[in-house]
Amino acid sequence: MAEIIVVTSGKGGVGKTTTSASLACGLAKAGKKTAVIDFDVGLRNLDLIMGCERRVVYDFVNVVHGEASIKQALIKDKRFENLYVLAASQTRDKDALTTEGVEKVLKDLADDGFDFIVCDSPAGIEKGAFLAMYFADRAVVVVNPEVSSVRDSDRILGLLASKTKRAENGERVKEHLLLTRYSPERVEKGDMLSIADVEEILGLKVIGVIPESPEVLQSSNSGVPVILDDASNAGMAYVDAVARILGEDKPLRFVTVEKKGFFSKMFGG
Ligand SMILES: Nc1ncnc2c1ncn2[C@@H]1O[C@H](COP(=O)(O)OP(=O)(O)OP(=O)(O)O)[C@@H](O)[C@H]1O
Ligand SMILES: [Mg+2]
Repeated sequence: MAEIIVVTSGKGGVGKTTTSASLACGLAKAGKKTAVIDFDVGLRNLDLIMGCERRVVYDFVNVVHGEASIKQALIKDKRFENLYVLAASQTRDKDALTTEGVEKVLKDLADDGFDFIVCDSPAGIEKGAFLAMYFADRAVVVVNPEVSSVRDSDRILGLLASKTKRAENGERVKEHLLLTRYSPERVEKGDMLSIADVEEILGLKVIGVIPESPEVLQSSNSGVPVILDDASNAGMAYVDAVARILGEDKPLRFVTVEKKGFFSKMFGG
């Protein structure tokens, strides 16, 4: 049975696509047959971050409209043979996706033996975001440690509990809170909400905390999801988060200010 995971947030630009790409790679690396779908009709970012933008021939909207089969549109990742990308369309028509069309694509993927289908949601709470979450079994709600992001995530949690297929059937979508762009230094200064603040406001424990890290942008620019960068803190934090999503118990890392030792204080570095 395929498990459908939506990566959502409400607020834009918080790290959904970054997270979708890393989550999909992490699941594939763990041996799970994984597809990651870009629901951001009109924008198309995921293929860039996954590094397959030059190989997009058909996209999600083509499949939904019957212009291509799912097999024709899926792009096989060059790093993992069990990882596939379905790119978004660059059409201006925001209504190009339909509930029935999305359901058919998800069903075809499930029939094809996929273990996980990761749905990268667009920002906002309009149709695209609704369709990305509607069929989800689980949700990774991406939050930045700031009030506006937390508030929008709270609205998304409300929608997950009311406007999804599971909700309509009296079931719950399993919710995971992923705090990203976290900076322990700024939390200590009082410029950002702490992990405990965010957990308390949203009534959920974090499944992972991804530090603010310059390697994220470098990875995106080179088409290599940051989870594959073993040297970056953000990459390692994503590895941990994926392990927790798969049920492992891992302590949080990179969540406290690194105290500089005597020598680095004296001599810098
Ligand atoms: N942990 C991080 N550290 C530093 N920069 C980050 C981190 N996570 C994401 N970013 C940066 O934040 C920006 C937005 O990320 P991303 O595109 O993943 O967000 P999004 O939620 O998908 O945006 P949209 O709502 O537009 O789809 C990008 O420039 C990305 O490089
Ligand atoms: Mg995005």
